[in-house]
Amino acid sequence: MSTIGSDRELRLAASALPPAGEIRMVELGRHRIGLFRVGDEVHALADRCPHRGAPLCSAGDVVTGIERRPDGRLELGPAGALVRCPWHKWDFDIASGECVVEPRLRVRRYPVRHDGDDVVVSLDGGLDRP
Ligand code: FES
Repeated sequence: MSTIGSDRELRLAASALPPAGEIRMVELGRHRIGLFRVGDEVHALADRCPHRGAPLCSAGDVVTGIERRPDGRLELGPAGALVRCPWHKWDFDIASGECVVEPRLRVRRYPVRHDGDDVVVSLDGGLDRP
């Protein structure tokens, strides 16, 4: 993997990103961050579950959720859109960081931007914090 970065940003070649359904761990300063690809979007989440502090990204799994339609039927949600915590198996929406079981809990998200063929993960930006 080729990465270039400062202590506030990490630049990765797009080829270093994980395929959909997998998690790639990176470190930025003292932050351990999981990178995900959901559809065409790249997301960066803290490796810490907001419930009890489990290593959410480094030991969790990407899963596909089940959603209830307005008519009451169940169907599969977007493919690989959730990460499941290894300790209590709660699921978190990768795009928003929100916990499916307890919506008041949210994983810290890091800003991701595209710069040419690279992806830049930053510690700075306006994304929410738990
Ligand atoms: S520590 Fe993650 S769900 Fe409990």
